[in-house]
Amino acid sequence: MPQLLNLSRAARLVGVTRVTLQKKIKAGLLPSFDGMVAAEDLLHVYPDAQLEDNTAYERVAQIKDRAFGKRVFERTLPDKEVLAARVTGLAKELSQAQSALKQYRAVVDGLEARLKAWDRAGEELQAAAASLRMWVHQELAAGESRGGIPNLTIQDSFLRIMAAHVKLQPSGHEFFVEGADTLLEGALRAGLALNYGCSSGNCGQCKAKVISGEVLKVRPHDYVLSESEKAAGQVLMCSNTAVTDVVIEAGEAESTADIPFQHVTAHVKSIEPLGDAMLLLHLQTPRNNRLRFLAGQNVVLQLGHSISAEFPVASCPCDDRNLQFHIHNTPGNLFADYVATRLQKGEAVAVEGPTGGFVLDEDSPRPLIFIAFGAGFAPVKSLMEHAMALDTAESVQLYWIAPREDDLYFSNWTRAWADALDNFIYTPLVAGGDLETAAGRQQALVGGLLQRIVEDHPKLGDYDVYVAGSEPLLDVAKKWLLAQGLPEAQLIAGVVR
Ligand code: FES
Repeated sequence: MPQLLNLSRAARLVGVTRVTLQKKIKAGLLPSFDGMVAAEDLLHVYPDAQLEDNTAYERVAQIKDRAFGKRVFERTLPDKEVLAARVTGLAKELSQAQSALKQYRAVVDGLEARLKAWDRAGEELQAAAASLRMWVHQELAAGESRGGIPNLTIQDSFLRIMAAHVKLQPSGHEFFVEGADTLLEGALRAGLALNYGCSSGNCGQCKAKVISGEVLKVRPHDYVLSESEKAAGQVLMCSNTAVTDVVIEAGEAESTADIPFQHVTAHVKSIEPLGDAMLLLHLQTPRNNRLRFLAGQNVVLQLGHSISAEFPVASCPCDDRNLQFHIHNTPGNLFADYVATRLQKGEAVAVEGPTGGFVLDEDSPRPLIFIAFGAGFAPVKSLMEHAMALDTAESVQLYWIAPREDDLYFSNWTRAWADALDNFIYTPLVAGGDLETAAGRQQALVGGLLQRIVEDHPKLGDYDVYVAGSEPLLDVAKKWLLAQGLPEAQLIAGVVR
């Protein structure tokens, strides 16, 4: 019986993304059985997979973590009770395997003794018995010379201690719960829009049913589950973690209509300049009152009593406590001026939302092209982080178009992503001219920059194209893209004011 691995686990074991394995399966290079791959086939395609050689996965994980503002170098171990339960489970499996092995050894020894007894039989039978004994010896010797436990098995055991695999029903979405994360945190990090509210065990909105596997309560909760809910296997995902691989029935947001409008008071964590005309405002919400939103959506920020403005969230919903905003610091912009000169670290900022439908079509199988005009990069960044967290897009290409090189204020980030991710391409495009006037826009975009996109992708209709920027720029780009044969349903536009 071959050792079968689900795609997520197999991808982790050999240090590539799930999309890379899906490509190999599609190309017929890696056999799959019901979404599973055999360890042997995996080793055949990745013969150099080693326990120590997990650099590709780690590299991508680190880049993702840095980009998401997570604690990269402080990866925590699972809760000690979880760790103990997982190690106990593995020890049980090991002792079962050992006793099965002893039994097989006894069978082999018995077989050999019986064959020896045939030495006294006729010549023909003696020869058959001798050949069979030789074969048994050769097989045993070959097994020993193969060098014991394969690296992949060791690595799989290690992964099973550090992380548990979760499969959601009815969506079929999958993710891993790592470190001290709860089921909810693991799902959010993987880019999944599970139903939840307070994140702290008070509201009951994250209730889900455990279909199989073992979970453990790792955070206290005030919400009281009824006896019948408990008997039916209901748990709170914000309080429980997975001890073993689990299957869970849970509700997920399918569209923006499923995300409630919220009022959250966040606090300023930091304000940093991004180049000479942009500010990065980093807000943090309280642990028990986070903002639930979909990547690409907007919120209204209110400073003091009278200054407010709408901004796209520039960070990913996979880190719902840390909200980032790119504030264009232009002369006469009262909001930006307040942020630059008066807003202090720790100060309260009212956040209302989310609104807007510039969100990812997660069911689409097509590769993604993002076109960001200037500050349109903010919602695009959130969408790209989300797409990377989901790990379902075959490829992601970003074209960032700005009047000057200096206006590409986050280029270090985009270049780091392009270096780290095999399926991400970044193309900065500098207009070098005026994008403010209709004639300037027409000349710079239609006369040159947008051509580059269709030169790179002559079959534009094979892609989903997301465009974000000011309304006049979007108008020009939309008309042009549709004229190039991009179906309207595959063009998703987000206005950034
Ligand atoms: S999200 Fe409120 S109880 Fe879990």
